[in-house]
Amino acid sequence: MSSIHIIYASTSGHTEYVVNVLTALLRQHGHAVTLTRAEAAKPEDLQKGDVLLLGSGTWNTGGIEGQLNPHMHALLFERATDVSLQRKRVGLISLGDERYYYTTRCTEHFMRFLKECGAKQFLPPLIIVNEPYDQEERITTWGNAVVTRLAKGNGDRLPKMGQ
Ligand SMILES: Cc1cc2nc3c(=O)[nH]c(=O)nc-3n(C[C@H](O)[C@H](O)[C@H](O)COP(=O)(O)O)c2cc1C
Repeated sequence: MSSIHIIYASTSGHTEYVVNVLTALLRQHGHAVTLTRAEAAKPEDLQKGDVLLLGSGTWNTGGIEGQLNPHMHALLFERATDVSLQRKRVGLISLGDERYYYTTRCTEHFMRFLKECGAKQFLPPLIIVNEPYDQEERITTWGNAVVTRLAKGNGDRLPKMGQ
């Protein structure tokens, strides 16, 4: 069993819906999942869990489209600038809408953050374009990939000396 911490920002509830579907799936597989909203998260919350999942929609934060949700932006690029996440395993969940030119481009800002703080992507991002409510299969497929990677990670662990 692994511990998974999810930090997410959600203004109209889409990211929250995706995160809730994933949480249920991961718990079904016996993993311990904790959640924090980005607006309430402290920098040290990013260090919680064997794996961290970050979720956000794409917004026009600061007046420019293609940005992170303002709460996620404030956490990652204002409050947590000094946090070290060396080799931390992180999964990204990005949402957006095809009506915008910079569709789901919040992913790029997530990736810049991971690079700057030394974290590594656990698996390719889950990208949800448009409302997530009829996209459960896509969400579930990604959640199952997380479960598989966690199982593989545990299996890869070297046995302790003397075992
Ligand atoms: C003010 C505003 C700006 C947005 N800008 C973008 C954008 O630049 N690119 C994009 O793909 N989606 C954009 N969206 C769409 C949202 O990212 C999308 O609806 C997402 O599912 C919202 O997730 P949430 O409800 O969890 O916040 C924008 C939505 C709003 C209301």
